[in-house]
Amino acid sequence: MEEIVKINTKNTTLLLKINDKVDLIYYGEKIYDEKDYSFLGQDIALRKCSSADDIDATPSIISFVGDGNNRETSVHIVDGFGNASLGFKVNRYYFTNEHLKMNGLPTAYGNEKFFVIEFKSSISKITLKKYFGFFDDCDVLTTGIIVENEGDANIFVRRLMSMQLDLIQGEYEIISLSGSWCNETNINRTELSKGVYSFGSYLGLSSNVHNPFFMIKNKSDNSCIASNLIYSGNHKEIFEKTELSGIRVMSGINDYLLNYEVLPNCSFASPESVFVCGNSEEETSEKMRDFVLKHIINPNFTNKERPIIFNSWEGLGFDINNKSIANLATVAKEIGIEVFVIDDGWFGGRNDDTSSLGDWYENEEKFNGKFCETAKLIKENGLKFGLWFEPEMVSINSEFYQNHSDYAMTIDGLTPIEIRNQIVLDITKEEVQNHLIESLSKNIEKYGIDYIKWDCNRGLTEIRKSGSYFYDYTVSLYKILDTITKKYPNIIMEGCASGGNRFDLGTLCYFSQIWASDNTDPLVRVDTQRGLFLGYPQVSATSHVAVSPNPHTMRKYKISDRFAISAVTNLGYELNLNNLSKSELEEIKTYNEFYKRYRKVLQFGNITTSYENHNDKRIIFTSVSKEKDLAVSVAVDLRCVFARIYDRVYINGLQDNYVYKVNSVFSDKVNNLEVTGKSIRKCGIYVGNFFTVDSATEYNDFLATEIFVFTKIGEV
Ligand code: DGJ
Repeated sequence: MEEIVKINTKNTTLLLKINDKVDLIYYGEKIYDEKDYSFLGQDIALRKCSSADDIDATPSIISFVGDGNNRETSVHIVDGFGNASLGFKVNRYYFTNEHLKMNGLPTAYGNEKFFVIEFKSSISKITLKKYFGFFDDCDVLTTGIIVENEGDANIFVRRLMSMQLDLIQGEYEIISLSGSWCNETNINRTELSKGVYSFGSYLGLSSNVHNPFFMIKNKSDNSCIASNLIYSGNHKEIFEKTELSGIRVMSGINDYLLNYEVLPNCSFASPESVFVCGNSEEETSEKMRDFVLKHIINPNFTNKERPIIFNSWEGLGFDINNKSIANLATVAKEIGIEVFVIDDGWFGGRNDDTSSLGDWYENEEKFNGKFCETAKLIKENGLKFGLWFEPEMVSINSEFYQNHSDYAMTIDGLTPIEIRNQIVLDITKEEVQNHLIESLSKNIEKYGIDYIKWDCNRGLTEIRKSGSYFYDYTVSLYKILDTITKKYPNIIMEGCASGGNRFDLGTLCYFSQIWASDNTDPLVRVDTQRGLFLGYPQVSATSHVAVSPNPHTMRKYKISDRFAISAVTNLGYELNLNNLSKSELEEIKTYNEFYKRYRKVLQFGNITTSYENHNDKRIIFTSVSKEKDLAVSVAVDLRCVFARIYDRVYINGLQDNYVYKVNSVFSDKVNNLEVTGKSIRKCGIYVGNFFTVDSATEYNDFLATEIFVFTKIGEV
């Protein structure tokens, strides 16, 4: 029996030929039905195992160790007898409305269409369920594998890549996001050549080194596939190009140390992978961002506008008390801030980063037992109240560790490795999970918390149950997050891991936003943000206006420039407001009013990043409403010269036949201009240089910005 199965979304087609194996016949832009697909030439490689080339020349969506594959494979399972060749063959396949059992892993929501291919081992009682979920509205497919042990002996999962796509031979470019602390999500372009190119994470977090998001671009027609993983732990992406076969692309949980023991009658689920294709980088990115908005981010926040935040960290550090907080809260309210967040330092005996993680009760010395009153005051002021926690961690120098050293992930005989003076709790233990849920709940209720910043400032080191620890840690984290977010569905949860060390789709299933980077320098943020927007919508990230000179780089920026870059995402402030002059506060107030007026389009519009004259001396982030009747552009000029510049700004994404009224915000460069979307796209608008005399003299001229608003006033 052989059948061609077609999985269509609105604009894409995935064609599979299924007999006892599965061949991938086509994945790409939607095609018409054909009588037969032999014209694709894939029948020459019928997988008769007459030569290894045949197996390798047949593209598929799954591959098994010991099956004649001469490449990286997606499945490596060892049965109770130590066999790794298990003779997996298709047993049946079916369309279903039912979600598969994901064993505590988060999944995309909002679809009820799945295609499942069930494989059975010819020698052991093991079933693999390879599934595809489809999301017509965004053209996205999700995929993963569930392993079910139906035998009497334990089996071991050593590799289980959620996604495998074998693409046809060609020249491809990998576009990935790499970085480090304070330097996240830089765009990395790699030409694929023969061999294996791979990246991943190894310390239990999705990491700022290599984000799980990537795109692969076919250079012959610029079509792209974008991929991401709904997972916050160790991930791995593999690309293999060989002489004869095409390109094998895989994404999934990292097999580093993986040796997951699955007991009889138990199952193991791979994280859900997400992929989508489009005709260009821009189109593919747009689909992915749309999907994240509609099917990933905690559904309680899908359309909820994110408030403007004040965060105490960069402005005050550990130096906080009732008085300083009360003063700041009053100013914050006056200038239009909506949430007041007390970051690190409010608990235990915490005066620096050497102590107290785990002691999640108010710092008596700083707040004289009046922390409750301070929280109340903030709320009475009309602000929401937020607090910082780092729940997964403990300081050895803490009361909690003295009483519960057994809750920490340590190994007898080994001195615990302290990173930032802290060690990790073993949250795979149920009593630790319960303790954290209880202690967070207590604080939430006691102080009436509206917002939590959930930080995580180090990776996992001591590894006790090596084959399963990383995976179990991540699933346990999800269990805690699931409980808290269900118990308190209205609390805004912001993810953070020293900035963007855990910026991923798994986190976003619970949190409404993530602190994208500790680096608040606008110039650095431009790079961080343009990288992020390849795969994540702007509402998933937060960016704060910091003090000038910037504490990380000592570069000076005008408030308007700092505001403009932060306004591209969820806006916040992270500087001591008491040190600002009256006129500066007034200026910020005006910007906050502007932000609130346009926040819907800024946070939820489709964001495009365009470059002027194909170089990146001027970068323009434009967010366009769904109806295309409103758009806001933040144009960033990176030329460090105060000179005559005749360049125009070209904006994509507007509706060609709409007439827009265009205004600039910081200057009167563009004043009630009436022009069609097409002219804005094709001819551009002359705006000159954004640098001014004071930006040249008073500031260091690292960037200059202007904001443009486009409002539809008619049609042609
Ligand atoms: C690291 C975070 O990224 C910062 O924003 C801040 O919350 C500090 N931790 C506090 O210790």
